[in-house]
Amino acid sequence: MNLHLNIMAKPFTITTAIDYVTAEPHLGHAYEKIATDVMARYMRLMGKPVFFLTGTDEHGTKVATTAAKHNLTPQAYADNIAASYKRTWGELNIIYDRFIRTTEADHTRVVQHIWQLLLDKGDIYKADYTGQYCAGCESFLAERDITEDGLCSIHGTQPDAVSEENYFFKLTAYKERLFELINKGKYVQPEFRVPELLNILENLQDISVSRPVSSVSWGIPVPNDPDQRIYVWIDALSNYITGTGYLNHPEQFATHWPAACHMIGKDILKFHALYWSAILMAAELPLPRMIYAHGFININDAKISKTVGNVVSPQALMRRFELDTPDPVRYYLMTLCPFGQDGNFTEDDFKAKVNADLANNVGNLLNRTLNMTKKYCGGVVPQLDRQQSIQINKTEQQVSLRYEPVSEQDLEPIKAAMAQYQFQRAAESIIHLVDRGNKLVHNAEPWTLHKEGKQADLEKVLYTVLDSLRQVAILLSPFTPELCDRIWQQLGYAPGTLAQQRWGDVLGSAIPGGQALQLAGPILPRLEDELVGAAGKKN
Ligand code: ME8
Ligand code: MG
Repeated sequence: MNLHLNIMAKPFTITTAIDYVTAEPHLGHAYEKIATDVMARYMRLMGKPVFFLTGTDEHGTKVATTAAKHNLTPQAYADNIAASYKRTWGELNIIYDRFIRTTEADHTRVVQHIWQLLLDKGDIYKADYTGQYCAGCESFLAERDITEDGLCSIHGTQPDAVSEENYFFKLTAYKERLFELINKGKYVQPEFRVPELLNILENLQDISVSRPVSSVSWGIPVPNDPDQRIYVWIDALSNYITGTGYLNHPEQFATHWPAACHMIGKDILKFHALYWSAILMAAELPLPRMIYAHGFININDAKISKTVGNVVSPQALMRRFELDTPDPVRYYLMTLCPFGQDGNFTEDDFKAKVNADLANNVGNLLNRTLNMTKKYCGGVVPQLDRQQSIQINKTEQQVSLRYEPVSEQDLEPIKAAMAQYQFQRAAESIIHLVDRGNKLVHNAEPWTLHKEGKQADLEKVLYTVLDSLRQVAILLSPFTPELCDRIWQQLGYAPGTLAQQRWGDVLGSAIPGGQALQLAGPILPRLEDELVGAAGKKN
């Protein structure tokens, strides 16, 4: 046992669902990865080491049949789509520590090991089974999953009546412990999702965890039973422990597991909160600290689907508005609805929100402040102490203007919102600081102060706003890292240094007087309607 391991800081381990390689990434998949990335960046800003796990789910009948349609082997097909996911996350500036693919060798080893553990324990048994199997869900449907018309309630398709020999996991043996766990609260977030789980627990049944090779050939073999394949859930869910080092890197696993948060969509909460928790109990491994089930992104009020034809990829959205950064997409997805609820994406709303908050509010404050500093102070940050409040007696209206610098009290709501994964509220509180900066400029009228020869007051105002822009660049960086880097550099800082800032620097440091600003164009041009492809483009 290495001694240094004991002093290794426990990272904040956060995971996403691993996406099926049966579809190209769309806005819904991006939503989850962006939320996870924002949280990971926030934790790094707080000075926490982070381990961020994501990846692709590559086994199952649907993968094999889709691959066949493309005239590819399942592996070759999975290779293509996994590469597409990786590329997309790169383009969205999502910084993960491991991208796990369930077809990787270390994962097969873990899945078979867990299988053997559960079998030896007597928690896996073989039985004949007859049921309604949904290929879309890749699972047998319970009565509650079937509509009155006999269709899968999720996919709206006819399930197949299947009769076969399967291995089963004794989920029911964990009913009491699961009930206690789920009921305790905090384990499943948001808590309004708890009742539906308790409902399922009432009528809990054992679950089928393997299928005959004749039904599922593309899957991890059941140890010592060549006729059976382990199918999706034991395979997919175990990615979380493979990815954190279980079995293959025990010293890493000791620090990286349990995860602080499994970030998943509401449709797969049952599998995580019930199946996965029970599998971990059976394997006598620690449970994740929390499971967060986010809502769904709809597009134009319809569920994202190929049949509806409303699938939007994050790249298509970026092309549509000729964006040179993914930040508007990141910002919009994190602010279009309270996290946990479903959100509705429309292009108009995207444009309105991005223009209002980023192009106008943040962009204008930066632009006008830099331009005034150029005009009135030679483009150099005035020498001042940020900590003083501002009091200016304006001759015209004979009113005095007060401005209090950003304080701990202003940061509290941001921290509180992030602690609850309330990204929208956190962003709102940050934008509120931008509003304050704009209001200060509006009320203080630096151009009037200049005309009246009140240089000291003028410098006080400009310094205060420049420093609040520095604070905003740090605070907003988990959401819009590239735009914040543009702000940062225009404020005169060296490229790459924003990432070294920590939460404590927001109040604990200040923009240095004498620093030369680097004026450049708008950090983000306003999004315009006219950009409907090259043909409709305005000159
Ligand atoms: O479920 N809005 O994979 P998947 C928001 N492989 N989130 C959405 C969404 C939408 N419109 N559509 C999908 C799987 N998602 C399994 C997971 S985890 C051990 C195995 C989310 O590709 C969905 O809820 O169908 C899930 O969290 C993730 O995207 C992957 O979905
Ligand atoms: Mg799905």
